Amino acid sequence: MDCAEIATNSRPLKGIVLAGGRGTRLMPATLPISKQLLPVYDKPMIYYPLSTLMLTGIRDILLIATPEDLPRFKRLLGEGQQWGIRIQYAVQDQPLGLAHAFIVAEDFIDGQRSALVLGDNIHYGANFSSMLCKASEFEKGMVIFAYRVSDPQRYGVIEFTDNFEILSIEEKPMRPKSNYAVTGLYFVDEQAPRMARELKPSQRGELEICDLQNWYLRQNALTMKVMDRGSAWLDTGTYDSMMDSALFVQTLERRQGIKIACPEEIAFRKGWISRSELIALAKEIWNSPYGEYLNNVASEFA
Ligand code: G1P
Repeated sequence: MDCAEIATNSRPLKGIVLAGGRGTRLMPATLPISKQLLPVYDKPMIYYPLSTLMLTGIRDILLIATPEDLPRFKRLLGEGQQWGIRIQYAVQDQPLGLAHAFIVAEDFIDGQRSALVLGDNIHYGANFSSMLCKASEFEKGMVIFAYRVSDPQRYGVIEFTDNFEILSIEEKPMRPKSNYAVTGLYFVDEQAPRMARELKPSQRGELEICDLQNWYLRQNALTMKVMDRGSAWLDTGTYDSMMDSALFVQTLERRQGIKIACPEEIAFRKGWISRSELIALAKEIWNSPYGEYLNNVASEFA
């Protein structure tokens, strides 16, 4: 069953992909093009977070990008109907912080619950889809995802008890209180845009997502899901981590013959597009192994 169907009592989550920023750490590759349009092995980076939302059962998505890059995202993704989803677009002129995305998206969110995913975050794992489905059933508060890393000081860090009770969240602390990073995927209730408006910009002039998390924590409304040790949350922030991510995807895809984060396949398996629509998508990119893969997926169901 689709997660969107499991959450029977409430309307499905709205999805937001934040793909702003200038990608300064990846320059010069990002001088002419957004980081989130660069490839991670065989597909544009943005396919990974979009797949995360689609696996959650989310079909109504707002993509936030810089004014320069927005037309490029539109060229790649259109209005999303080719994948049985709806993609709308909004501009973030300045990098004003992750929490600012909820303000940009306020009209789109329209008083509903939403899921924000960062455009450069790759989440992967055998049980990840079902974790997403379960997590999306929340009614109130904020749900975050924790992943064990060896270098927590680069991220938001979450401290919690053995019962998964959250004690603190700190953004890029010098002395991390745990090895668990908060990943770039956040489920929030309808209060997020209003609360984001009340946040004060940090020293670097941004509305910080950790301040929003701490607001929910003070309300006793912040919950977390810990990703399994067998799962992957991959970084694309540096040349090396981008290469590592690409090699990870390449290794698994070549070994298994199954693609990671293939939106066309997700749409087809969820019944959002038909077999003939999938074949038509394959035809558009017929000369690539990706196109061949789509054909193979379609013929499995022939
Ligand atoms: C942001 C968040 C941080 C989170 C990270 C995940 O950091 O502020 O809490 O752990 O994303 O990717 P940034 O990558 O913007 O420095």
